[in-house]
Amino acid sequence: MNPSAFVLKGIFLDTPAIGELRCREGHALCEDGVFAGFSSELPAAWAAFPLHDYTGRLILPGMSDLHLHAPQYSYCGTAMDLQLLDWLQRYTYPEEGRYRDVGYARQGYARFTQDLLHSATTRVSIFATLHTDATLELMRLLSEAGIRGYVGKLAMDRNCPDFYREETGEGLRETRRWLDACAHGEYPGVMPILTPRFTPSTTDAYMKGLGELSREYGVAAQSHLSENLDEIRWVSELCPDTRFYAESYSRFGLFGGEQPCVMAHCIYCPEEEDALIRKNGVFIAHCPTSNENVIAGISPAARYLREGYRIGLGSDVAGGHTLNLFAVMAAAVQVSKLRWLYTDKSQRPLTIPEALYMATAGGGALFGKVGLFEAGYAFDAIVLDDQALLNHLPFTPAERLERYAYLSDGRPMAKYAAGRKLF
Ligand code: GUN
Ligand code: FE
Repeated sequence: MNPSAFVLKGIFLDTPAIGELRCREGHALCEDGVFAGFSSELPAAWAAFPLHDYTGRLILPGMSDLHLHAPQYSYCGTAMDLQLLDWLQRYTYPEEGRYRDVGYARQGYARFTQDLLHSATTRVSIFATLHTDATLELMRLLSEAGIRGYVGKLAMDRNCPDFYREETGEGLRETRRWLDACAHGEYPGVMPILTPRFTPSTTDAYMKGLGELSREYGVAAQSHLSENLDEIRWVSELCPDTRFYAESYSRFGLFGGEQPCVMAHCIYCPEEEDALIRKNGVFIAHCPTSNENVIAGISPAARYLREGYRIGLGSDVAGGHTLNLFAVMAAAVQVSKLRWLYTDKSQRPLTIPEALYMATAGGGALFGKVGLFEAGYAFDAIVLDDQALLNHLPFTPAERLERYAYLSDGRPMAKYAAGRKLF
């Protein structure tokens, strides 16, 4: 008998296709951290395995948060009065700068990790700060908690305050030291991702060096793209020889193709930029709560999703005010209605099953076979307690999911990542 195998019982909801919500009541088998089969009745061959019995509870794939800033979690829910470029200078850089002190970082990251652990999220692509040792500390905390995915040491050598800026050569040396420190699986489940913060904060020389490291180490990359109109104008001034923002990354090999790549926001991409995103298989992190709070705009996420771009959701804490991806799902639906009403009648608003697709199968694809209850997929699952949301109405599982997305705090009662029960 496989000693790590177990059976999980409940009402399984997932999205095998965009907009399709599949509902199956019964038993799922986990073997070696992987989804190994589903059966409505308990097969005799599974009877010897431990049974985790959540009869009547909704069970969803663990969610993927494709974009968030761990050191900004401390001021989450405040600093809502400025747009991006002023917001960064006034609130973000001062707090992120404090993470130079590893003790301070450990305190902030420990709290962040605990709250993330008890959220719906099992997979992440995180921005840390430019400090190598603090970033390694975050990777250790996440790995020990069982959260999986990517963490990036930032690269920033211009247009930021002296107390929070690297010199280019030193930054590249630190990036190499960081890659070496996590090159041999020192932080199981947690991998490094190259992270030029965004083009205004990273010179061409630094980008070029990061592109070389990406090829040498075979490492993914992430950044921000076309989030804010002033930002886009600034990039065109800083990089006059580019035709559109994405070229400031792609010309150095930091825009997908060879290695996985995540770009946050993508609200104002011109057609050529869209074409490159698609051609290179870049993942779009749709961050609707952040786009509201820092008044960035409304992404054409419905079009991206329905036209077959790779797209997932990002909490973008602390531009976004919550780690709760159910709230981000609801916001994705809500802002898509405003976009439909005010600017674009060609795309009907998103639905909750479409938002769930982005939160699970869509974003999960960044991490391999993640985000579905199908054979061969990583066994990432969350069990929801929605007892407080039930009443005299006979809600279907789809309606229970919808109510959970709009009304709950998004904290599951049990959670599994790659077959490990996290709580
Ligand atoms: N662009 C560059 N840095 C940031 C950040 O920290 N948050 C957001 N929302 N956009 C950015
Ligand atoms: Fe961001």
